[in-house]
This record gives sequence, C-alpha cells and structure tokens, in this order.
Amino acid sequence: MTENTIKTIKIQRIINECDGVKTFFFNMKKKNEESYIPPKPGQFVMVWVPGVDEIPMSISGYDELGNWSITVKNIGECTNALHDLKLGDFIGIRGPLGNSYPLPDTKSKNVFLIGGGIGMAALRSLSRELINRGIRFTAIEGAKIGNDLMFMDEFQVYNKEFTEFHYCTDDGSYGEEGFASDVFKGIIKDYSKKKLSNTIVYACGPELMLYALLQICSKKNVEYYASLERIMRCGCGICGLCALDSSGLLVCKDGPIFSLIELKKIDDFGKYTRDFSGKKIPLE
Ligand SMILES: Cc1cc2nc3c(=O)[nH]c(=O)nc-3n(C[C@H](O)[C@H](O)[C@H](O)COP(=O)(O)OP(=O)(O)OC[C@H]3O[C@@H](n4cnc5c(N)ncnc54)[C@H](O)[C@@H]3O)c2cc1C
Ligand code: FES
Repeated sequence: MTENTIKTIKIQRIINECDGVKTFFFNMKKKNEESYIPPKPGQFVMVWVPGVDEIPMSISGYDELGNWSITVKNIGECTNALHDLKLGDFIGIRGPLGNSYPLPDTKSKNVFLIGGGIGMAALRSLSRELINRGIRFTAIEGAKIGNDLMFMDEFQVYNKEFTEFHYCTDDGSYGEEGFASDVFKGIIKDYSKKKLSNTIVYACGPELMLYALLQICSKKNVEYYASLERIMRCGCGICGLCALDSSGLLVCKDGPIFSLIELKKIDDFGKYTRDFSGKKIPLE
C-alpha cells in the first residue's frame, strides 16, 4: 500500500474548534502494522467524502499509534458534507502527501510559528513536533475576529517557559488589533543582525499574510518557510492544476511548503490563484 492508496477510515471523534471549524479524529494504522511511519508536520491528505468530492486538508495532528486529525473550515460543498458527518461514518484518506516543514537543525534557533485562520491546522502539528523535540518557539495566531481563534485551550497548557503565544485580530476583539505579520515585525524590530540570522519562521494562512511575511523575512535576512494552497484535483503531480507560474512548481508534489528562495521565484505568489478551470483569480 502506498501513500496514494485511498484508505477507508471511520471517524472516531469530532470536536468543534470555533464557529464553522471542526476537528475530525481517526486512526490510520492497521492492527499490528510494523511498517507504519507517522506523517511529518506540514504534510496533507486528500479527503474523499463518498458521493461528493475529494479535497486537500492539512494533517492537524498525529501520533505514533496512528491517530491522525484534520481540522476543517466549512466553506463549500465538500467541507459542508464533512461537517454533516457523525461518529462512526466513513471517509477515504489518501496520504500523507507533499513535503514538510524542515525542522531547525539546532535547539538554539529563534523559532516563530505564524498562522492566520485555518492555517493554524498545519502549524498545530508542527507545534507538537517541536515540543516533543524540546525546541522552544514563539507562536503568533491571527484571525478576523476573536471567535475565529483556534486551539487556544490546547496552547494554554503548553509550558509558558517554553513557548510564547501572541494573538491578534483584524477588529481588535481579542489580543492585539492588526495582522500577524505586523505583530512579527514589531517583535523583531530590535533584533541584532546576528539574532535575525538565527531566526526561522514557519507560516501558514492567507496568501497575503504569507506574502507580507516574505517581504519582512527577505529584508531582514530571516529564514522563512510558507505553506501554500491551490485548488487540487489529483494531489500527486499528475493533473497540473496546482502548478505555480512561472516556476512550474507543483503545490501538491514540490510543496505545499516552500522556502524563501523558492517563493521569490513564484510569479503568482501573493498576486493571484486559479479556479477549477485554471482561470486566474486575483487575491484580495
Ligand atoms: C495543501 C492544502 C491544505 C489545506 N488544508 C486545509 C485545512 O487544514 N483545513 C481546511 O479547512 N482547508 C484546508 N485547505 C483548503 C481546502 O482544501 C478547501 O477549503 C476545500 O477544498 C474546499 O472544498 P469545498 O468543496 O468545501 O468548497 P468548494 O465548494 O469547492 O469551493 C468553495 C470556495 O473555496 C475555494 N476553494 C476550493 N478549493 C480550494 C483549495 N484547495 N484551496 C483554496 N481555495 C479553495 C473555491 O474557489 C470557492 O471559492 C487546504 C488546501 C490545500 C491545497
Ligand atoms: S493537484 Fe494535480 S498536479 Fe497538483
């Protein structure tokens, strides 16, 4: 069985994260399976809802026992069908797919996790991986309004000596008023050149936020990795729907995580995305 084989799994637990967002838990390890290898932070799966569609979702959690989760925002036909599912219902999972966030090579790096909205799903699994490896980090979570902030209860129990959390909202209803990229800019404004070159940023969220972070990291000489989203069909490098102009990089196969150097070569990054027919859609 390869990562491209659809595995039918039963939903074991569902929790409401915030308005319109649910996390679904399931198990991907067969009984006594010795070859099981957990996914890596930043990887995604193609989720098949029978009779509806197959769509990409970040893996928001995983463990050695094969327990995985996806965290789904209800925005359209297939995510709506996912939200209607109950405990014990079946879905198909293909994955883990794509690359992953490259972890810091030393524990002494200044690590930032910067997420906007549902982008926190991919960063949740990264935060757990860093904690398990004893790597300290600062997280900045942004959302439109306070009620959209996710995983706050879970992040609350992380050791405060070990992690630092900043929250911000577009309307100021929780945390600082403004964008996550501006909060980051504020935190690093007095960093020395040496500290900046020892800083690493992992981000996931709206592309305009990712683009703003690219400008900051590029100017300040900070190592940067961002997870991109494009419409996907095959999820494994065959259909070409997720190709990025003019680099030819595929989000499903070469990504979804791209480095600062790669992001600079992608002409459509921060400018436009494409719909299912391949037509360019300007980013707002
Ligand atoms: C690598 C990757 C990881 C993702 N991780 C998550 C996640 O953890 N949680 C989550 O809720 N969503 C995630 N998404 C986005 C998710 O795949 C889309 O929201 C989903 O496909 C929408 O399907 P739908 O049938 O409900 O919506 P549709 O009815 O198909 O579309 C509703 C709207 O969403 C847009 N849309 C559709 N598909 C995508 C897409 N793939 N990317 C961006 N916009 C899209 C459409 O253009 C339309 O405007 C991820 C996407 C990618 C590429
Ligand atoms: S989704 Fe088909 S090539 Fe990426």
